[in-house]
Amino acid sequence: MTALLENPTARVKWLAAPSSTRWLEQANARPELVLIDHAHCERKAAGVALQLMFRYPSDEGLGALLSPLAREELEHFELVLQLLQRRGQALRPLQAPGYGATLTAAVRKGESARMLDSFLVAGLIEARSHERMALLAAHSPDAELRALYGELLASEARHFGLYWCLCEERFGREATAARLQELAAVEVEALTGVLDSEDQVRMHSVGVEPGA
Ligand SMILES: [Fe+2]
Ligand SMILES: [Fe+2]
Repeated sequence: MTALLENPTARVKWLAAPSSTRWLEQANARPELVLIDHAHCERKAAGVALQLMFRYPSDEGLGALLSPLAREELEHFELVLQLLQRRGQALRPLQAPGYGATLTAAVRKGESARMLDSFLVAGLIEARSHERMALLAAHSPDAELRALYGELLASEARHFGLYWCLCEERFGREATAARLQELAAVEVEALTGVLDSEDQVRMHSVGVEPGA
C-alpha cells in the first residue's frame, strides 16, 4: 500500500487544459468565497471516498487506499474550518457550480465501466483542485492563504495518483488512459464559459485557457 500511496504518477497527464488567469484573478478578488467553497470541497472529497467504499464494500484494495484518503480529506476540512472560524467566517452553504454534476453525468451506468469512470472523475477533480491550489499557493495576495494552500498541495497530488493506481490495477494502463482522455475533455468543457457574477467564483468555477 505504501508504494501505491507514494507513487506520484507524475507522468500521467490528467488535465486537458490549464486554468485561466481570469479564474485566478476572480479567486483572488473573493478569497473568502473560495475558502468557504474549499471547505465544502474537502468535505465532499471525503464523502466521495466513503461512498466508493460503501458501493464496493468487499474490495479490500480499494478500502485500504480510500480509507486513509477519506481521513486525510477530513483533516483538510478541519484545517480550513479552523481558518474560517479564526476569521469569523461561517461555513455557509454556497451554490455549487455545474462542474461536479456535469462530471457525474458522464459516469457510465453498469459495472465495471461505472467503477472506472467513478475513479477517473474523482481523480480529475483532485487534479484540478491541486492545479488551482498551486496557483493560489503561488499567487494569493494573502500570506496565510498561500501557506494553507501550499500545505495541502502534496497530499492532493498524492490523491489523484492514488485514483490512477486504483484504475490501473483493475483496468490496465491502456484502457485507463483512453477513458481518461475522454473524461478529461468533459472536465474542460465543464469549466468552459464565463461567470455571470463575481459572486459565483468557486474552486471549480469556469475558467480554462481556450484552445490550450
Ligand atoms: Fe484535500
Ligand atoms: Fe484530495
